[in-house]
Amino acid sequence: MSVPPVGVLRDRFGRVATDLRISLTDLCSLRCTYCMPAEGLPWLSKRERLDDDEFVRLADLFVRLGVTSIRLTGGEPLVHPTLPDVVARLAALTPRPELSLTTNGVTLDRSARKLADAGLDRINVSVDTLDAARFTELTRRDRLPSVLAGVAAAAAAGLTPVKINSVLVRDSNLHEAPQLLGWALREGYRLRFIEHMPLDADHTWSRDDMVTADEILALLEGAGYQLRPHGARTHAPAEEFDVLDGPERDAWAEPTGRLGIIASVTRPFCRECDRLRLTADGQLRTCLFAQSETDLRAPLRAGASDTELTELIVAAVAQKQSGHGIGSAAFVQPDRSMSAIGG
Ligand code: 5AD
Ligand code: SF4
Repeated sequence: MSVPPVGVLRDRFGRVATDLRISLTDLCSLRCTYCMPAEGLPWLSKRERLDDDEFVRLADLFVRLGVTSIRLTGGEPLVHPTLPDVVARLAALTPRPELSLTTNGVTLDRSARKLADAGLDRINVSVDTLDAARFTELTRRDRLPSVLAGVAAAAAAGLTPVKINSVLVRDSNLHEAPQLLGWALREGYRLRFIEHMPLDADHTWSRDDMVTADEILALLEGAGYQLRPHGARTHAPAEEFDVLDGPERDAWAEPTGRLGIIASVTRPFCRECDRLRLTADGQLRTCLFAQSETDLRAPLRAGASDTELTELIVAAVAQKQSGHGIGSAAFVQPDRSMSAIGG
Protein backbone atom coordinates (compact mmCIF):
# COMPACT_ATOMS: atom_id res chain seq x y z
CA MET A 1 0.00 0.00 0.00
CA SER A 2 1.32 3.44 -0.81
CA VAL A 3 1.71 5.70 2.20
CA PRO A 4 -1.07 8.33 2.29
CA PRO A 5 -0.20 11.90 3.30
CA VAL A 6 -0.29 12.72 7.00
CA GLY A 7 -3.47 14.59 7.89
CA VAL A 8 -5.70 12.36 5.81
CA LEU A 9 -7.76 11.55 8.93
CA ARG A 10 -9.35 14.99 8.85
CA ASP A 11 -12.99 15.69 9.60
CA ARG A 12 -15.42 18.36 8.36
CA PHE A 13 -14.41 20.64 11.21
CA GLY A 14 -10.70 20.51 10.45
CA ARG A 15 -9.76 18.23 13.34
CA VAL A 16 -7.07 15.66 12.57
CA ALA A 17 -7.18 12.32 14.37
CA THR A 18 -3.84 11.24 15.78
CA ASP A 19 -4.87 9.21 18.83
CA LEU A 20 -6.42 5.75 18.62
CA ARG A 21 -7.90 3.93 21.60
CA ILE A 22 -8.28 0.20 21.19
CA SER A 23 -10.61 -1.65 23.54
CA LEU A 24 -8.98 -5.11 23.57
CA THR A 25 -11.79 -6.69 25.55
CA ASP A 26 -15.08 -5.71 27.11
CA LEU A 27 -14.43 -8.03 30.07
CA CYS A 28 -13.49 -6.50 33.39
CA SER A 29 -12.19 -7.72 36.73
CA LEU A 30 -14.12 -5.05 38.67
CA ARG A 31 -17.74 -3.92 38.69
CA CYS A 32 -17.53 -0.19 39.46
CA THR A 33 -20.99 0.99 40.40
CA TYR A 34 -20.77 4.08 38.16
CA CYS A 35 -19.92 1.87 35.18
CA MET A 36 -21.50 -1.57 35.36
CA PRO A 37 -24.31 -3.49 37.04
CA ALA A 38 -23.29 -6.00 39.74
CA GLU A 39 -23.97 -8.97 37.48
CA GLY A 40 -21.76 -7.61 34.69
CA LEU A 41 -22.89 -7.15 31.10
CA PRO A 42 -23.64 -9.48 28.19
CA TRP A 43 -20.01 -9.99 27.14
CA LEU A 44 -18.87 -10.39 23.55
CA SER A 45 -18.03 -13.94 22.53
CA LYS A 46 -14.48 -14.86 21.51
CA ARG A 47 -15.64 -15.09 17.90
CA GLU A 48 -17.15 -11.60 18.08
CA ARG A 49 -13.93 -10.08 19.44
CA LEU A 50 -11.09 -9.31 17.07
CA ASP A 51 -8.06 -11.53 17.49
CA ASP A 52 -4.56 -10.13 17.90
CA ASP A 53 -3.73 -10.37 14.19
CA GLU A 54 -6.86 -8.38 13.39
CA PHE A 55 -6.14 -5.71 16.02
CA VAL A 56 -2.58 -5.32 14.76
CA ARG A 57 -3.60 -5.21 11.09
CA LEU A 58 -6.06 -2.40 11.78
CA ALA A 59 -3.63 -0.55 14.07
CA ASP A 60 -1.05 -0.67 11.29
CA LEU A 61 -3.51 0.98 8.89
CA PHE A 62 -4.30 3.73 11.41
CA VAL A 63 -0.61 4.38 12.01
CA ARG A 64 -0.01 4.73 8.27
CA LEU A 65 -2.90 7.19 8.18
CA GLY A 66 -1.24 9.46 10.72
CA VAL A 67 -2.14 8.04 14.13
CA THR A 68 0.84 8.66 16.39
CA SER A 69 -0.40 7.34 19.71
CA ILE A 70 -2.30 4.21 20.62
CA ARG A 71 -3.91 3.61 24.00
CA LEU A 72 -5.00 0.12 24.97
CA THR A 73 -8.14 -0.03 27.07
CA GLY A 74 -10.95 -2.42 27.98
CA GLY A 75 -13.09 -3.34 29.85
CA GLU A 76 -9.85 -4.23 31.52
CA PRO A 77 -6.93 -4.74 29.14
CA LEU A 78 -4.92 -6.77 31.68
CA VAL A 79 -7.44 -9.60 31.36
CA HIS A 80 -6.44 -9.92 27.69
CA PRO A 81 -4.08 -12.91 28.00
CA THR A 82 -1.60 -11.85 25.30
CA LEU A 83 -1.40 -8.16 26.23
CA PRO A 84 2.44 -7.95 26.38
CA ASP A 85 2.63 -9.57 22.96
CA VAL A 86 0.12 -7.07 21.53
CA VAL A 87 2.21 -4.23 22.97
CA ALA A 88 5.37 -5.64 21.38
CA ARG A 89 3.66 -5.99 18.02
CA LEU A 90 2.33 -2.43 18.14
CA ALA A 91 5.76 -1.16 19.13
CA ALA A 92 7.14 -2.78 15.97
CA LEU A 93 4.85 -0.75 13.67
CA THR A 94 6.31 1.94 11.42
CA PRO A 95 6.31 4.74 12.34
CA ARG A 96 6.31 3.48 15.93
CA PRO A 97 3.32 4.88 17.79
CA GLU A 98 3.50 6.03 21.37
CA LEU A 99 1.90 3.27 23.46
CA SER A 100 -0.13 3.69 26.61
CA LEU A 101 -2.50 1.64 28.73
CA THR A 102 -5.55 2.49 30.81
CA THR A 103 -6.06 -0.13 33.50
CA ASN A 104 -7.83 -0.70 36.80
CA GLY A 105 -4.50 -1.99 38.12
CA VAL A 106 -5.73 -5.36 39.39
CA THR A 107 -2.83 -7.82 38.75
CA LEU A 108 -0.68 -5.01 37.35
CA ASP A 109 2.00 -5.82 39.93
CA ARG A 110 2.62 -9.04 38.00
CA SER A 111 2.76 -7.54 34.52
CA ALA A 112 4.11 -3.96 34.77
CA ARG A 113 7.71 -4.99 34.08
CA LYS A 114 6.73 -7.25 31.18
CA LEU A 115 4.68 -4.46 29.63
CA ALA A 116 7.46 -1.91 29.97
CA ASP A 117 9.92 -4.37 28.43
CA ALA A 118 7.49 -4.99 25.55
CA GLY A 119 7.51 -1.27 24.73
CA LEU A 120 4.72 0.30 26.75
CA ASP A 121 5.52 4.00 27.27
CA ARG A 122 2.87 5.28 29.68
CA ILE A 123 0.15 4.05 31.98
CA ASN A 124 -3.04 5.34 33.61
CA VAL A 125 -4.36 3.45 36.61
CA SER A 126 -7.82 4.07 38.04
CA VAL A 127 -7.86 4.64 41.79
CA ASP A 128 -11.08 6.17 43.08
CA THR A 129 -10.46 5.62 46.78
CA LEU A 130 -7.68 4.71 49.21
CA ASP A 131 -10.10 3.23 51.71
CA ALA A 132 -10.35 -0.57 51.40
CA ALA A 133 -13.98 -0.76 52.53
CA ARG A 134 -15.05 2.00 50.18
CA PHE A 135 -13.09 0.40 47.34
CA THR A 136 -15.03 -2.82 47.88
CA GLU A 137 -18.28 -0.90 47.90
CA LEU A 138 -17.44 1.14 44.82
CA THR A 139 -15.95 -1.63 42.67
CA ARG A 140 -17.82 -4.56 44.27
CA ARG A 141 -14.48 -6.37 44.60
CA ASP A 142 -12.00 -6.42 47.50
CA ARG A 143 -8.89 -5.62 45.43
CA LEU A 144 -7.44 -2.34 46.71
CA PRO A 145 -4.12 -3.89 47.88
CA SER A 146 -3.58 -5.46 44.47
CA VAL A 147 -4.28 -2.13 42.74
CA LEU A 148 -1.90 -0.19 44.99
CA ALA A 149 0.80 -2.84 44.46
CA GLY A 150 0.19 -2.46 40.74
CA VAL A 151 0.63 1.32 40.84
CA ALA A 152 3.91 0.93 42.72
CA ALA A 153 5.08 -1.75 40.28
CA ALA A 154 4.32 0.53 37.32
CA ALA A 155 6.43 3.29 38.84
CA ALA A 156 9.25 0.84 39.60
CA ALA A 157 9.10 -0.42 36.01
CA GLY A 158 9.69 3.13 34.76
CA LEU A 159 6.20 3.76 33.37
CA THR A 160 6.49 7.27 34.73
CA PRO A 161 5.00 9.63 35.48
CA VAL A 162 2.27 7.19 36.50
CA LYS A 163 -1.10 8.80 35.95
CA ILE A 164 -3.99 8.08 38.28
CA ASN A 165 -7.62 8.45 37.15
CA SER A 166 -10.30 9.12 39.74
CA VAL A 167 -14.02 9.47 39.25
CA LEU A 168 -15.67 11.17 42.22
CA VAL A 169 -19.15 10.07 43.21
CA ARG A 170 -21.35 12.05 45.57
CA ASP A 171 -22.21 10.27 48.83
CA SER A 172 -19.30 7.89 48.24
CA ASN A 173 -15.70 9.00 47.62
CA LEU A 174 -16.21 12.72 46.96
CA HIS A 175 -14.81 13.84 50.32
CA GLU A 176 -11.67 11.79 49.63
CA ALA A 177 -10.52 14.15 46.88
CA PRO A 178 -7.97 15.95 49.10
CA GLN A 179 -6.56 12.66 50.46
CA LEU A 180 -6.21 11.28 46.94
CA LEU A 181 -4.33 14.41 45.91
CA GLY A 182 -2.11 14.24 49.01
CA TRP A 183 -1.24 10.62 48.26
CA ALA A 184 -0.43 11.35 44.60
CA LEU A 185 1.78 14.31 45.53
CA ARG A 186 3.72 12.26 48.10
CA GLU A 187 4.22 9.34 45.73
CA GLY A 188 4.97 11.45 42.65
CA TYR A 189 1.93 10.27 40.66
CA ARG A 190 -0.10 12.56 38.40
CA LEU A 191 -3.68 12.58 39.60
CA ARG A 192 -6.53 13.45 37.26
CA PHE A 193 -10.13 13.74 38.34
CA ILE A 194 -12.60 12.77 35.62
CA GLU A 195 -16.13 14.10 35.56
CA HIS A 196 -18.66 11.30 35.47
CA MET A 197 -20.10 11.04 31.96
CA PRO A 198 -23.45 9.60 30.84
CA LEU A 199 -21.91 6.31 29.74
CA ASP A 200 -22.98 4.08 32.61
CA ALA A 201 -24.66 0.82 31.67
CA ASP A 202 -27.49 1.49 34.13
CA HIS A 203 -28.37 4.83 32.53
CA THR A 204 -28.74 6.42 35.97
CA TRP A 205 -26.36 9.33 35.33
CA SER A 206 -27.85 12.69 36.20
CA ARG A 207 -26.39 16.08 35.52
CA ASP A 208 -27.71 17.45 38.80
CA ASP A 209 -25.98 14.73 40.76
CA MET A 210 -22.60 14.57 39.01
CA VAL A 211 -19.55 16.12 40.65
CA THR A 212 -18.32 19.03 38.51
CA ALA A 213 -14.82 20.38 37.97
CA ASP A 214 -15.79 23.60 39.79
CA GLU A 215 -16.92 21.62 42.79
CA ILE A 216 -13.71 19.57 42.88
CA LEU A 217 -11.52 22.68 42.64
CA ALA A 218 -13.48 24.36 45.44
CA LEU A 219 -13.19 21.28 47.62
CA LEU A 220 -9.42 21.08 47.15
CA GLU A 221 -8.96 24.78 47.80
CA GLY A 222 -11.10 24.46 50.91
CA ALA A 223 -8.72 21.72 52.09
CA GLY A 224 -5.76 24.09 51.76
CA TYR A 225 -4.45 23.35 48.28
CA GLN A 226 -3.34 26.31 46.18
CA LEU A 227 -3.84 25.63 42.48
CA ARG A 228 -2.82 27.60 39.41
CA PRO A 229 -3.68 26.71 35.78
CA HIS A 230 -0.61 25.25 34.11
CA GLY A 231 -0.10 26.99 30.77
CA ALA A 232 -2.51 26.78 27.87
CA ARG A 233 -4.74 23.82 27.34
CA THR A 234 -3.36 21.37 24.79
CA HIS A 235 -4.92 18.46 22.92
CA ALA A 236 -4.84 16.49 26.13
CA PRO A 237 -8.31 16.70 27.60
CA ALA A 238 -7.01 17.24 31.12
CA GLU A 239 -6.87 20.82 32.27
CA GLU A 240 -3.58 20.90 34.12
CA PHE A 241 -2.95 22.74 37.37
CA ASP A 242 0.24 23.40 39.28
CA VAL A 243 -0.22 22.64 42.95
CA LEU A 244 1.72 25.47 44.53
CA ASP A 245 0.98 24.79 48.16
CA GLY A 246 -1.01 22.49 50.39
CA PRO A 247 -0.98 20.21 53.41
CA GLU A 248 2.17 18.14 54.06
CA ARG A 249 4.07 20.02 51.43
CA ASP A 250 7.39 18.84 52.81
CA ALA A 251 6.44 15.28 51.95
CA TRP A 252 5.73 15.92 48.26
CA ALA A 253 7.87 14.09 45.73
CA GLU A 254 8.40 17.32 43.76
CA PRO A 255 8.32 20.91 44.98
CA THR A 256 5.43 21.77 42.66
CA GLY A 257 2.81 19.10 42.16
CA ARG A 258 0.50 18.64 39.22
CA LEU A 259 -3.18 17.94 39.04
CA GLY A 260 -5.42 17.31 36.03
CA ILE A 261 -9.15 17.72 35.73
CA ILE A 262 -10.96 16.11 32.83
CA ALA A 263 -14.19 18.05 32.67
CA SER A 264 -15.75 16.36 29.66
CA VAL A 265 -19.23 17.44 30.69
CA THR A 266 -18.91 20.98 32.04
CA ARG A 267 -15.88 22.11 30.00
CA PRO A 268 -16.04 20.01 26.82
CA PHE A 269 -12.97 19.81 24.61
CA CYS A 270 -14.73 18.43 21.51
CA ARG A 271 -13.33 21.18 19.28
CA GLU A 272 -9.81 19.91 19.90
CA CYS A 273 -10.66 16.22 19.91
CA ASP A 274 -8.03 14.17 18.07
CA ARG A 275 -9.33 10.73 19.13
CA LEU A 276 -10.74 7.65 17.50
CA ARG A 277 -11.90 4.46 19.17
CA LEU A 278 -11.87 0.88 18.01
CA THR A 279 -14.10 -1.48 19.98
CA ALA A 280 -13.20 -5.08 20.80
CA ASP A 281 -15.62 -6.23 18.10
CA GLY A 282 -13.99 -4.11 15.44
CA GLN A 283 -16.32 -1.12 15.28
CA LEU A 284 -14.80 2.30 14.68
CA ARG A 285 -16.30 5.03 16.86
CA THR A 286 -15.32 8.60 16.09
CA CYS A 287 -16.84 9.93 19.34
CA LEU A 288 -17.48 8.42 22.78
CA PHE A 289 -21.08 9.54 22.35
CA ALA A 290 -21.56 8.53 18.71
CA GLN A 291 -24.87 6.89 17.84
CA SER A 292 -23.39 5.12 14.84
CA GLU A 293 -20.27 3.04 14.27
CA THR A 294 -18.35 1.88 11.22
CA ASP A 295 -17.98 -1.86 11.03
CA LEU A 296 -14.39 -2.75 10.16
CA ARG A 297 -14.66 -6.39 11.27
CA ALA A 298 -17.02 -7.61 8.54
CA PRO A 299 -14.94 -6.27 5.63
CA LEU A 300 -11.73 -7.36 7.39
CA ARG A 301 -13.02 -10.92 7.70
CA ALA A 302 -14.42 -10.86 4.15
CA GLY A 303 -10.91 -10.25 2.83
CA ALA A 304 -10.95 -6.49 2.21
CA SER A 305 -7.69 -5.00 0.94
CA ASP A 306 -5.72 -2.36 2.84
CA THR A 307 -6.98 0.22 0.35
CA GLU A 308 -10.61 -0.74 0.92
CA LEU A 309 -10.24 -0.63 4.70
CA THR A 310 -8.41 2.69 4.47
CA GLU A 311 -11.25 4.17 2.45
CA LEU A 312 -13.77 3.08 5.08
CA ILE A 313 -11.70 4.62 7.88
CA VAL A 314 -11.13 7.90 6.05
CA ALA A 315 -14.83 8.21 5.20
CA ALA A 316 -15.88 7.47 8.80
CA VAL A 317 -13.51 10.07 10.23
CA ALA A 318 -14.72 12.69 7.76
CA GLN A 319 -18.21 12.30 9.23
CA LYS A 320 -17.15 12.73 12.89
CA GLN A 321 -19.78 14.69 14.81
CA SER A 322 -18.91 18.17 16.05
CA GLY A 323 -19.38 17.43 19.74
CA HIS A 324 -21.17 15.34 22.34
CA GLY A 325 -24.07 17.71 22.94
CA ILE A 326 -24.60 16.41 26.49
CA GLY A 327 -26.31 19.63 27.50
CA SER A 328 -28.78 19.69 24.63
CA ALA A 329 -32.36 18.44 24.77
CA ALA A 330 -31.63 16.14 21.82
CA PHE A 331 -28.84 14.29 23.65
CA VAL A 332 -29.29 10.53 23.75
CA GLN A 333 -26.88 8.31 25.65
CA PRO A 334 -25.21 5.75 23.35
CA ASP A 335 -26.15 2.08 23.75
CA ARG A 336 -22.60 1.01 24.46
CA SER A 337 -21.40 1.76 27.95
CA MET A 338 -17.93 3.02 28.86
CA SER A 339 -16.66 -0.49 29.49
CA ALA A 340 -17.55 -1.53 25.94
CA ILE A 341 -16.05 1.58 24.37
CA GLY A 342 -12.87 1.84 26.37
CA GLY A 343 -12.72 5.32 27.84
N1 5AD B 1 -17.59 8.63 33.23
C1 5AD B 1 -16.31 9.00 33.41
N2 5AD B 1 -15.31 8.14 33.61
C2 5AD B 1 -15.62 6.85 33.63
N3 5AD B 1 -14.85 5.76 33.78
C3 5AD B 1 -15.63 4.67 33.71
N4 5AD B 1 -16.91 5.01 33.49
C4 5AD B 1 -16.93 6.37 33.43
C5 5AD B 1 -17.94 7.33 33.22
N5 5AD B 1 -19.22 6.98 32.99
C6 5AD B 1 -13.41 5.87 34.00
C7 5AD B 1 -12.80 4.75 34.74
C8 5AD B 1 -11.40 4.73 34.22
C9 5AD B 1 -11.50 5.32 32.85
C10 5AD B 1 -11.31 4.33 31.77
O1 5AD B 1 -12.79 5.89 32.74
O2 5AD B 1 -12.81 4.99 36.13
O3 5AD B 1 -10.55 5.53 34.98
FE1 SF4 C 1 -14.57 -0.21 36.72
FE2 SF4 C 1 -13.27 0.29 34.44
FE3 SF4 C 1 -14.15 -2.12 34.96
FE4 SF4 C 1 -15.90 -0.17 34.40
S1 SF4 C 1 -14.41 -1.03 32.99
S2 SF4 C 1 -16.07 -1.75 36.01
S3 SF4 C 1 -14.85 1.56 35.36
S4 SF4 C 1 -12.61 -1.00 36.16
